[in-house]
Amino acid sequence: MTRTAILGVGHYVPSKVVTNDDLAKMFDTSDEWIQQRTGIKERRFIEEEGIGPADLAVPAVKMACEKAGIEVSEIDAIIFATLSPDHEFPGSGCFLGDYLGLPGVPALDIRNQCSGFLYGLQIADAWIRCGMYERVALVGGEVHSTGIDLSDEGRDVAVLFGDGAACAILGPTEEEGRGVMDVEVHADGSGAKELWIEAPASKYIPRITHEMIDQRKVWPAMNGKQVFRWATSKMPEVARSVLERNGVGVADIDLLVPHQANRRINEFVAQKLELPTEKVVHNIHKYGNTTAASIPLALSEAMQEGRAKKGDLILMAAFGSGFTWGASLVRL
Ligand code: UT7
Repeated sequence: MTRTAILGVGHYVPSKVVTNDDLAKMFDTSDEWIQQRTGIKERRFIEEEGIGPADLAVPAVKMACEKAGIEVSEIDAIIFATLSPDHEFPGSGCFLGDYLGLPGVPALDIRNQCSGFLYGLQIADAWIRCGMYERVALVGGEVHSTGIDLSDEGRDVAVLFGDGAACAILGPTEEEGRGVMDVEVHADGSGAKELWIEAPASKYIPRITHEMIDQRKVWPAMNGKQVFRWATSKMPEVARSVLERNGVGVADIDLLVPHQANRRINEFVAQKLELPTEKVVHNIHKYGNTTAASIPLALSEAMQEGRAKKGDLILMAAFGSGFTWGASLVRL
């Protein structure tokens, strides 16, 4: 049976390191508060204006192709997951295809926030198993630093997010046992306004006004406690569901690669699943929350470090704005 294999993974983060102390110089926060509540020590911001998620994705895709042993020119479809697209339209995938020199290659942008990589994985898996495409570049890329309120009013959100991109090259495999076993995703829009940006909005005339800017509707707004509550309930629930329906026990998991939103959330998820800490990937201390990029970025680093290797069974889980959430089981 043809399955979808992760053939290679790559990542790229901008070189500008922004520590918690750097943020504390801009607004009222502290290294102690941020580390205690989230586990974040630093994050990366783009070095200068003019760098978008598609730009960050270029080196990530090139690295993923190298790891997969393919040429960039072999990519026959792009899926770009982002909540911070380069422009309102067209999608970042179109820009990326152009930067990579892939005219005519289809590019699909998806807007599933922190669960974007898992939603994209489900789409790519279906495409590949039905024989539609053979080399799909599944990208998660974000530039958050230009869209957060770096002031006292925005501090609850501003300390959490960082910029980065990562890519998985997916393709068919006949290798026994290898590949994507399952992807389960969910959404519940009753929580849409718990973590969102209200404006600009096509439902308002005009879409943006000075008043809306003054009312801070252009910045992300989050009910942190509510998001935390949902994340710690839904991530273990969906992870268990994927394990159960595939007859996989927790002991069979080699590595949990969770979305990196808050170290405390991921420790809680691991504890609920009864997974030992050495089987959980954390890199939030270095990058903060990179949303759609966070799972492939964590996987790429784990593979680079030799923590995740061919034959390993990887459990991925995410929760984010939407609300959206999901989990996947993949044998590398
Ligand atoms: O991918 C999904 C994205 N988001 C998440 O997963 C976020 C989930 N939520 C969380 O991770 C946590 O709710 C946060 C880390 C965001 C906040 O932690 P918390 O323990 O829920 O803190 P809080 O919002 O209840 O705030 C506690 C205090 C407040 O002060 P008072 O009212 O107790 O005087 C805040 O004003 O901390 C204050 N505070 C800050 N202090 C220093 C809020 N943000 C900051 C800050 N620095 N950056």
